[in-house]
Amino acid sequence: MTRNAQQDADEDSDDVELLAEFRLLWRDAAAIWDEHENEPAFEGYVGSDFFAAWTILKSLRGRGSTFLEWGSGLGVVAIMASRMGFESAGIEIEPELVELAQTLAKRYSADVDFVCGSFVPEEFEPDAAMGDEFFRTDSDSASAYAELDRELSDFDIVYAYPWPDEQGLFNSIMRRCGGRRSVLIRYDNREGISMRQPGMPKRSKR
Ligand SMILES: C[S@@+](CC[C@H](N)C(=O)[O-])C[C@H]1O[C@@H](n2cnc3c(N)ncnc32)[C@H](O)[C@@H]1O
Repeated sequence: MTRNAQQDADEDSDDVELLAEFRLLWRDAAAIWDEHENEPAFEGYVGSDFFAAWTILKSLRGRGSTFLEWGSGLGVVAIMASRMGFESAGIEIEPELVELAQTLAKRYSADVDFVCGSFVPEEFEPDAAMGDEFFRTDSDSASAYAELDRELSDFDIVYAYPWPDEQGLFNSIMRRCGGRRSVLIRYDNREGISMRQPGMPKRSKR
């Protein structure tokens, strides 16, 4: 076996172990949902397709080191990112969800900075002409970046599960306040996972 093939084999076996751990994490998150789904804090919460999130995170290894989950809910994706070696954070508006995410992170030995507040940066001004409309995302609460001691532009990878009508809004936030090379991963329950760099200028057509 060549050295590279050996490295690949080692990485594969690490991933097998991680995936086994993540399946337990997903099971725990599902149990929390079953227990709390009717509580007001869970009104805006729906979990992503965590297997799809894991697959895309694997493809992003080496493309950045800092990860942020917007509206982190139970924090499952941010926890996976931490266990995969990213420097990970999550911003969630519901204090109860932040506490549950912190408990899960501890259980899975994940070092995630979960903070309570809004992922919408203070400097973001919605532009109605560009279709920047808030539907279910909280637009009134204080931004949480100061508590993280970071700006949105400090994060290489941002993960979000927007409501269908808010996909353009999420792109706008990233385009105007995110890092130029930062990646936005979006989950949509009909279209699945997509990835884009909203800060990069579009290539002109020839
Ligand atoms: C669709 S859930 C996604 C949960 C998790 N990210 C996932 O993909 O499994 C959206 C989450 O965003 C939270 N939320 C809504 N507005 C927010 C805001 N302005 N800032 C932070 N979190 C917000 C909701 O409470 C909810 O937990």
